[in-house]
Amino acid sequence: MSMNTPLATAPELVAASPSAPDAQTVVSVRHWTDRLFSFRVTRPQSLRFRSGEFVMIGLPKPDGRPLLRAYSIASPAWDDELEFYSIKVEDGPLTSRLRRIEPGDHVIVRPKPTGTLVLDALLPGERLWLFSTGTGVAPFASILRDPDTYERYNEVILTHTCRDAAELEYGKQLLAALPADPLVGEDAAAKLRYLPTTTREPTEAIGRITDWIASGRLTDRFGLPPLSPERDRAMICGSMGLNTDVAALLEAAGLQSGANNKPGHYVLEKAFVS
Ligand code: A2P
Repeated sequence: MSMNTPLATAPELVAASPSAPDAQTVVSVRHWTDRLFSFRVTRPQSLRFRSGEFVMIGLPKPDGRPLLRAYSIASPAWDDELEFYSIKVEDGPLTSRLRRIEPGDHVIVRPKPTGTLVLDALLPGERLWLFSTGTGVAPFASILRDPDTYERYNEVILTHTCRDAAELEYGKQLLAALPADPLVGEDAAAKLRYLPTTTREPTEAIGRITDWIASGRLTDRFGLPPLSPERDRAMICGSMGLNTDVAALLEAAGLQSGANNKPGHYVLEKAFVS
């Protein structure tokens, strides 16, 4: 969705003024690795969203107009604050400045959520697969804390693939906190399964998720039959290549893509800032 601006024309962004339209206050920032950070901001009063949707957020350019990018909301729909999980792109027009925000700073959050990674875009089924790489886990952090997710599916399986173990940490902490969640804790403990894998550092589970799917190792791992349109539903969120490659594997298994106005067996969305 976002085109990278060449470095030569990258604008020098500034923190938003508290009185700028749609300015929200940064509440906390956490740097996970030198490539990844998450931050929480106050929630616009008018903002209602469905778990899995994204909003446009950004910082002002010197002329005052904001540079905006799409960010999935990683927090649950009931939260007073909004959480975002971001990559730090070296020389990236937005993230090279956004990575330096601190509590008390202001960022622009347009209160117009949208997106296709929503439960309503999927047909009913037995099992929901959430395939993510990198910061693509963000929308699923919201979906996994939505009681609807567990009402609609008997089983929910999150896969998260990153280059190394440190990049899995955001997802690991999310999963570790879920059993204590007052709304979904019991359901998550009973229905949620999790497969973190790495591709550039050995961990307990190694390899691209596409290889896991294609070889049948994924369904074997969970003691499940092969993916089928009768039982399985899926959401995909990662790089363009990841999305295309996982979608092709799902299509080969007979699953068809869905949308808000035409629910299907799977949906996908790009993990935006790259
Ligand atoms: P790999 O290390 O083999 O490139 P990134 O940090 O570059 O966004 O990548 C996140 C994870 O997604 C990495 O583990 C990467 O594996 C994996 N990945 C990237 N592209 C694909 C793809 N087309 N199919 C499967 N996995 C992919």
